[in-house]
Amino acid sequence: MLVASNRGPVSYAVADDGSLRSKRGGGGLVSGLSAIGPESGALWVCSALSDGDREAVRRGVGEDGVRMLDIPADVHADAYNGIANSVLWFVHHMLYQTPLEPAFDAEFRRRWASYETYNRAFAEALAEEAAEGAAVLVQDYHLTLVPGMLRELRPDLRIGHFSHTPWAPPEYFAMLPDDIARQVLRGMLGADRLGFLTRRWADAFTACCERFAGGLGDTRVGVHGLGADADFLRARSHEADVDERMAALKEEIGEGRRTIVRVDRTELSKNIVRGLLAYRQLLDDRPEWRERVVHVAFAYPSRQDLAVYRDYTTEVQRLAEEINEQYGTPGWRPVVLHVKDDFARSLAAYRLADVALVNPIRDGMNLVAKEVPVVSDAGCALVLSREAGAHEELGEDAITVNPYDVVQTAEALHEALSMRPEDRTERSKRLAAAATALPPARWFLDQLEALRG
Ligand code: G6P
Repeated sequence: MLVASNRGPVSYAVADDGSLRSKRGGGGLVSGLSAIGPESGALWVCSALSDGDREAVRRGVGEDGVRMLDIPADVHADAYNGIANSVLWFVHHMLYQTPLEPAFDAEFRRRWASYETYNRAFAEALAEEAAEGAAVLVQDYHLTLVPGMLRELRPDLRIGHFSHTPWAPPEYFAMLPDDIARQVLRGMLGADRLGFLTRRWADAFTACCERFAGGLGDTRVGVHGLGADADFLRARSHEADVDERMAALKEEIGEGRRTIVRVDRTELSKNIVRGLLAYRQLLDDRPEWRERVVHVAFAYPSRQDLAVYRDYTTEVQRLAEEINEQYGTPGWRPVVLHVKDDFARSLAAYRLADVALVNPIRDGMNLVAKEVPVVSDAGCALVLSREAGAHEELGEDAITVNPYDVVQTAEALHEALSMRPEDRTERSKRLAAAATALPPARWFLDQLEALRG
């Protein structure tokens, strides 16, 4: 069995003394796939993403069961930043708006050629590594062309592809140049089976195929709603480093205050700015919460090679400061913002959460929505965007918001903060049960069985 994804389970940095330090990869894809350890016998093919990774490949350093491809840095940058994260991510999350509207010009075509080269490098490595009749599970929008390319090289393989993002409806997908739209869909349709996180994304994909590619052909489509890993989270969130971070966070929050927690990559689709605006609206509309609540917001740097992401990060920081200046008092800092990635501190915040705020504009699933109810010590209320994939499973016990509606989101925060403790505990238990219905290991095996079956 083989797995292919852009980001792998581990990434390296060269330390000052020249040694290589390894770090766990981040994001929903890696969290989900981490259930497959080396003992499964699977080979995980991924891309070198940093200079440290390329150095690791050169030195032959690596983990069992992982093969990192040393794709030239400029090809990777064009494919990953220039196409996958600027174009395909924006299309599927419907993020384009003036002045970000795309112009598919000659520069786009040049980058697209890199995207093809990058996909071909994966297809060739997989073709070389796979045993006769092996199952290959290709992941995400970075690798949409791989199934088709691999099918040509190795017709004997069982090929699956899984999308960790939403899929754009045909009216929006139609923005792509016609030949590129067809190439993406035909690339995907090279797979025997395609997986999506929700029915909604699967249906959108099917509708795109009907409109641009003459239908699905022989390819089957299925839905696998990745859940949170309860055993791992409960154990990990009670380790000593999490306790330490909890103590530090409690200091920052102050005695006897409620906490509204959010944890995201600093990502446009996560809608962090409107989350802060809604919190400010809450403090405006409901002065009774002043000094009694703190918004703990962790916004970890992501895709900082892209200017729009850097600008977004700056805006998040600026707005958090503005709210603190506007409302803060000597003993109360209304927003506690951290931007340095720290998994143990995220878990500490989960444990302290009274309310979890998850308000993405669009999101494939959103695992934070599923993780907080599992980990929170006293049970939490969940304010959840109807546009997150997780809403299909958690909607009943969450407080639903339209992610664009700042006033409604502020009111939802008030409702969440005001919930009777016994209601909150009950709802949180039901959220946790729904959130863990399909743990990562089962999620992965289901896909494999469906592909083989
Ligand atoms: C999303 C994507 C993943 C990606 C993750 C983190 O969850 O679906 O494929 O790995 O974001 O983004 P990054 O660009 O840092 O890999």
